[in-house]
Amino acid sequence: MKLVAFFSFVILIFVKANILKLPECGKYDAEFSKITYHQRLLGDILKTLDFISLRKCLTKCMLHPTCQSVNFMRQNETCELLGNSARRNSSGNSLFSPANGWNHFETDYDKKTLGSWCSNGNNNPCNAITERCEDRCVGNYQCVAVAQSLHEHVNHSSISTLYGTYYASLAFDGNEDTWACTHNLGTEPNWIKAVFKSRVFVNYIIFVNRQDTVNTVHENRCDNVDLKTILYTNNNQNLITTFGNTGDLGIRTTISCMKFADEIIATQNPPHQTMNLAEIWIHGRII
Ligand SMILES: *[C@@H]1O[C@H](CO)[C@@H](O)[C@H](O)[C@H]1NC(C)=O
Ligand SMILES: *[C@@H]1O[C@H](CO)[C@@H](O)[C@H](O)[C@H]1NC(C)=O
Ligand SMILES: *[C@@H]1O[C@H](CO)[C@@H](O)[C@H](O)[C@H]1NC(C)=O
Repeated sequence: MKLVAFFSFVILIFVKANILKLPECGKYDAEFSKITYHQRLLGDILKTLDFISLRKCLTKCMLHPTCQSVNFMRQNETCELLGNSARRNSSGNSLFSPANGWNHFETDYDKKTLGSWCSNGNNNPCNAITERCEDRCVGNYQCVAVAQSLHEHVNHSSISTLYGTYYASLAFDGNEDTWACTHNLGTEPNWIKAVFKSRVFVNYIIFVNRQDTVNTVHENRCDNVDLKTILYTNNNQNLITTFGNTGDLGIRTTISCMKFADEIIATQNPPHQTMNLAEIWIHGRII
């Protein structure tokens, strides 16, 4: 009996020490832009941390890969890391609830540099959309991927008008040597879309042209394609949000999204007759 008690004591201390170990070099550099007093944002609690200062709480949120805001209770220093925020609220699910003693804070969750090495005078050496710079606390840094590929999470895909055997799925198969292709008379929009198995958060997409058309007359087949997220809402009315455009594409372009999605659709207005693409890489997380 005594032994069991001793072990559970040891385990408790161990777990606590892990939770409180902060990997940000003892320098808390959390930023927050918006405070809502005596309110708690409901939903998507990623983690609850007890006995932690507000500054550490916000820093914890910034270092967490998917945290967007926090609820903080000052009296007993309780910190809730949330995967949702009022400002972004792109799922339409975030809701304030009056709660005495609780305040809600939004961190700068788009910040891509963490710690003094990455922020102070060192130009961020990492990719501005796909990576973030993390201070390693020993005078160097690490570039960390912000998201994973969501291709495995595509349930099915479709295309406005299929040309030959250039199926929609070939744009989401992880192979840039296989192509999807639409074809029409140039009077209707072309589109291609992917439906996810469940809701995702998309950090960014990489739109890739069919490479053997580059520097030929067919190079512009994927120019000026609008990229949109589709969210299912309770009243069966999809919420469609445009997050980017391929412009004058060339070979490939990386476009930041930072939105929730049930589907992704790429649309192209007339008079384009053919949208012929190699791949739409989608990077984010399953929620
Ligand atoms: C802190 O207070 C809140 C609100 O009363 C409560 O939900 C939470 O359990 C408390 N946490 C601790 C560690 O006492
Ligand atoms: C989030 O969006 C929904 C739907 O538009 C709205 O009802 C809700 O009040 C919003 N939440 C916040 C915190 O603004
Ligand atoms: C995938 O799509 C099929 C229809 O094509 C549907 O019946 C099925 O429920 C979907 N699965 C998921 C996990 O959404």
